Amino acid sequence: MEDTAKIEFAGKTYEIPVIVGTEGEKAIDIQALRQKTGLITYDPGFGNTGSCKSAITFMDGEKGILRYRGIPIEELAEFATFKETSYLLINGKLPNQAELNRFSVLLNDHSLVHEDMQHFYQSFPRASHPMGILSSMVNALRSFYPELQTMEEEINITVTRLLAKVRTMAAMSYKISRGHRVIYPRPDLAYTANFLNMMFDSPVRPYIIDNDVARALEVFWILHADHEQNCSTSAVRVVGSGRVNLYAAISAGISALWGPLHGGANQAVIEMLTQAYEKNIPVRRLVERAKDKKDPFRLMGFGHRVYKAYDPRAKIIKKWCHTLLDKLRISDPLLEIAMELEEIALKDDYFIQKHLYPNVDFYSGIVLRTIGFPTNMFTVLFAIGRLPGWIAQWKESMDDPDWRLSRPRQIYIGSPQYDYIPVEKRD
Ligand code: CMC
Repeated sequence: MEDTAKIEFAGKTYEIPVIVGTEGEKAIDIQALRQKTGLITYDPGFGNTGSCKSAITFMDGEKGILRYRGIPIEELAEFATFKETSYLLINGKLPNQAELNRFSVLLNDHSLVHEDMQHFYQSFPRASHPMGILSSMVNALRSFYPELQTMEEEINITVTRLLAKVRTMAAMSYKISRGHRVIYPRPDLAYTANFLNMMFDSPVRPYIIDNDVARALEVFWILHADHEQNCSTSAVRVVGSGRVNLYAAISAGISALWGPLHGGANQAVIEMLTQAYEKNIPVRRLVERAKDKKDPFRLMGFGHRVYKAYDPRAKIIKKWCHTLLDKLRISDPLLEIAMELEEIALKDDYFIQKHLYPNVDFYSGIVLRTIGFPTNMFTVLFAIGRLPGWIAQWKESMDDPDWRLSRPRQIYIGSPQYDYIPVEKRD
């Protein structure tokens, strides 16, 4: 196999090393490119740039494959818990029983949040988006839990604190936004059931945990737990490369996830479907608008930077949509619209030629609203799911001997040099 590529430039030929990943994917290693040739690369959106070597997640966008640490997403969604999946991503292997027990005890022990943090929550305006609140509060954790003595302790305890507390903080923000009493975590409940209880239990209506509902949320979190170098994960790695503390890096990831082209798409899908339903907009009209280059409208929940086939996560969550609605005997008109939209789009030349398929967000919102989550909490739920992935990627970057401060270059296209003009002489 070729282990070098050649670049010809200004009459000279340069040999560029090629590196090959476990699954045969290849990259030209351009670390010495500028030094040797004077050239840099230009790749807006980094669609052709490998920013790191990683042993965490493998995706094949053409074949619709997703694996965490080698295990197919379909198997994890069928058999694993979110807790095991988190352990797998962060530690590189599935935990044995003793490791799992210890992990559970630690998550329980760290699940409370400093009482003073509640004052901060109270100060946000009622209309604040919970993603803005969550990213601020996660950053604020550093002030409540200062740096620990050794690096090992700092990493292990901070990781556990984040996994245990972000879930509590998310539920807390929901309760406070409604003006209700905060519900504390319970040691007798499993990770997901505990979160559901903190969200929905109330002194006047005790929450009864349904195993299928808990499993649906668990699967949603497993499907979102990592997705290699996506926008928010890259944000965590880039911010982390400045050697900030993990809370600040995760807070940056939460901010990046908020956008409607990334994690905010699950909220945007439901808003799009609700508008179609309430205003009686024909599904074909949405498809026509999405195809119209003069219209900024996009079909939310469709398309993906890497998947050019059906998103494997979308297949799984779509199945859960039906399971949950059947189980709870609910008929959701938004599901009908979503299915019709998918059917029309998948037969349309525009979507076929651009390889635009439903992504995970297309159906996940229907699962979440069936469980009872308000739309503005959807992206927060994505953030809880993505947390172990962000942590695993940050940890890997810290241990990577090739890792350096992130600092891309640019091609300057501004004005050439000219002299300062005193204010009285300016036009
Ligand atoms: N509706 C209509 N046209 C689309 C859509 C869409 N949802 N997505 C892409 N296109 C078109 C786009 O207009 C462009 O056309 P042209 O080549 O004629 O200019 C072409 O397809 C390629 O699009 P792109 O924006 O260059 O592709 P990208 O890889 O930069 O964007 C994306 C990926 C996810 C941002 C985009 O597909 C999109 O905006 N989708 C809707 C938002 C969404 O569902 N986001 C969730 C992504 S999955 C969750 C996650 O992992 O974060």
